[in-house]
Amino acid sequence: MHELEVKIPSVEARSYRISIGNEILGSLWDRIEADYSRLSKFVVTDENLVSAGHLEAFLGRGSVLTFVISPAGETSKNIDTVTSIIEAMEKAYLGRDTLVVALGGGTVGDIAGFAASVFKRGVPIVHVPTTTVAQADSSIGGKTGVDSSISKNAFGAFWHPAAVYIDVAVLTTLDDRQFRAGLVESVKHALIADNEYFDFLQSNIEAVLERKADVLEKMADYNCKIKAGVVEADPTEKNQRRMLNYGHTVGHAVEAASGFELLHGESVAIGIIAAGLIESEMGLSEPGRLDRIRKIFEKIGVPITLPANLAEDNLVDLIKRDKKAVNKWPRFVLISRIGKVYCRDGQWAVEVEQDVVENVLGKF
Ligand SMILES: NC(=O)c1ccc[n+]([C@@H]2O[C@H](COP(=O)([O-])OP(=O)(O)OC[C@H]3O[C@@H](n4cnc5c(N)ncnc54)[C@H](O)[C@@H]3O)[C@@H](O)[C@H]2O)c1
Ligand SMILES: [Zn+2]
Repeated sequence: MHELEVKIPSVEARSYRISIGNEILGSLWDRIEADYSRLSKFVVTDENLVSAGHLEAFLGRGSVLTFVISPAGETSKNIDTVTSIIEAMEKAYLGRDTLVVALGGGTVGDIAGFAASVFKRGVPIVHVPTTTVAQADSSIGGKTGVDSSISKNAFGAFWHPAAVYIDVAVLTTLDDRQFRAGLVESVKHALIADNEYFDFLQSNIEAVLERKADVLEKMADYNCKIKAGVVEADPTEKNQRRMLNYGHTVGHAVEAASGFELLHGESVAIGIIAAGLIESEMGLSEPGRLDRIRKIFEKIGVPITLPANLAEDNLVDLIKRDKKAVNKWPRFVLISRIGKVYCRDGQWAVEVEQDVVENVLGKF
């Protein structure tokens, strides 16, 4: 037997800029044209962004190759949509000198990002996120992917964007339930990384819910700094990045058990309360902390108790199936105080006995 070793040059160190503003959508296209003048542009969006007038506001009167995902939302987040996008790009004779521009929520960003990562072995993408989830979470971090008929995000790639442009004004047309559920990821960021951000959210939650531009901009600023900081330290989710999973282990199980009737953020809110109860069982709680978290979720209008129709043993079974489970039981991200993740032996997700989790699920 002969063996050869192939050295893989390390990925070029690269950074990208996140621009945040209010009512900047109408001026972005000129900026993108100027910044990426040598690249052909291909826009991916969905039908609701078109009907809300955002696509027109974004592009102006110019004609640009555009793929409109229909129906909007998770049902289109599959490989067939990716195939349609790639074939539309081929039919337009686009090559590797193409820039994909994603205008939309997390589903548009995940689909377009995955399509960009595989089209001709990868072309750059910029994100213009338009939901509370996408502006706080999905547009930053480079995770892209689509669902199979069996599980969420079964196809996927890490594909970091070339730039992200956040206009908080586009959030004014977002459905109220979607808007509120998306705020849970912001609360999560505060809980894992920034006590001062939690205080800010607590004092300004009414203004956030009224969608006041100045607070939304400040919020975007906090979110991007926190998420970017975590991603920078661990771009491909080897360890630290797992802290972003706070509330998600129980949250994902709740989301699946509800038959996806509960939105992701609503399920994560329940998962964060479950994490708080686990923290109490493990001696990591502080007086009043969980009440503060419950109160902010109540104001946001997301659930803080398990819906009565979700069977506890079904939830435990779903937790065992968690993507990150080893030997059929996942580790849990916990906090020791607001803004500080509990880290044990260098691990950001720690072992919790199944009994403790079952006990907590029985308590809601
Ligand atoms: N890649 C990541 O790191 C990451 C992180 C979190 C979530 N996600 C993914 O994101 C997806 C959820 O994203 P989402 O919550 O943004 O949902 P979404 O993209 O489905 O948007 C929700 C709904 O709002 C509509 N919409 C979007 N922006 C609008 C606007 N400004 N005005 C009016 N309507 C608007 C959409 O058409 C859709 O009907 C999930 O698939 C999830 O897996 C990915
Ligand atoms: Zn999430």
